[in-house]
Amino acid sequence: MKVTAQQLLDGGPKLSVGLLAADLLRLGDELLGLERAGHVIVHVDVMDGMFCPQFTVGPPVIKAIPENFVKDCHLMVHEPVDKVKAYVDAGAGIITCHVESTAHPHRVLQSLAGTGVLRGIALNPGTPLEVVEPLIDDLELLLLLAINPGWSGQKFIPRTERRVGAARELIAGRNVVLGVDGGVTKANIEYVAGLGPDLVVSGSAIFDGAPPADNLSYMVDALRRQRTGAAR
Ligand code: DX5
Ligand code: ZN
Repeated sequence: MKVTAQQLLDGGPKLSVGLLAADLLRLGDELLGLERAGHVIVHVDVMDGMFCPQFTVGPPVIKAIPENFVKDCHLMVHEPVDKVKAYVDAGAGIITCHVESTAHPHRVLQSLAGTGVLRGIALNPGTPLEVVEPLIDDLELLLLLAINPGWSGQKFIPRTERRVGAARELIAGRNVVLGVDGGVTKANIEYVAGLGPDLVVSGSAIFDGAPPADNLSYMVDALRRQRTGAAR
């Protein structure tokens, strides 16, 4: 399903559940579990073996995810400009491309204008935030990676804290969603929530062997506590 920036901004930080950490042979059941727990935003990490070493899934799998989920597609693919349409057609609600993956990030965003898809730009931990400034009128989501793309279960890079603060200043006064992706666990979710993101991606902490619904409610409660406690 589609989603607007305002819907993501309203009511405090949201969780996007990284699906690749799920049991992929039981993906339908895993999705059903999330749905029963009332969770709708699912994060799909698309890797093409070029932009980053892993090779994961693409439009056919995204299309197979039921429409009652917001399909948050994180494209870690080389030169996505001619590829994004397939993700729109697969029912993506959010399409996020890496600024490092293309010579034409602005064209990528332009090509998604009017599709109803929320347009995101992702930054690797080593990429200066300044690259976003020329794109800022044409995006609805800024996704900061707190790890280097390619694998789930990595450790949150501490410098992300300062980057989230600087990104918040960069987007001040705009309807832009600020997201953090990677290394968010039950142990640090309160800390991450305290940094003030609007969207938090978490994969391996949800699918860690314990019932996903329990992990989910722990993470969502932590985000909610932050909302209640914070003057945002
Ligand atoms: C990494 C991905 C992340 C990651 C999240 O390339 O973009 O979405 O898999 O997984 P965890 O929560 O395990 O870091
Ligand atoms: Zn991701």
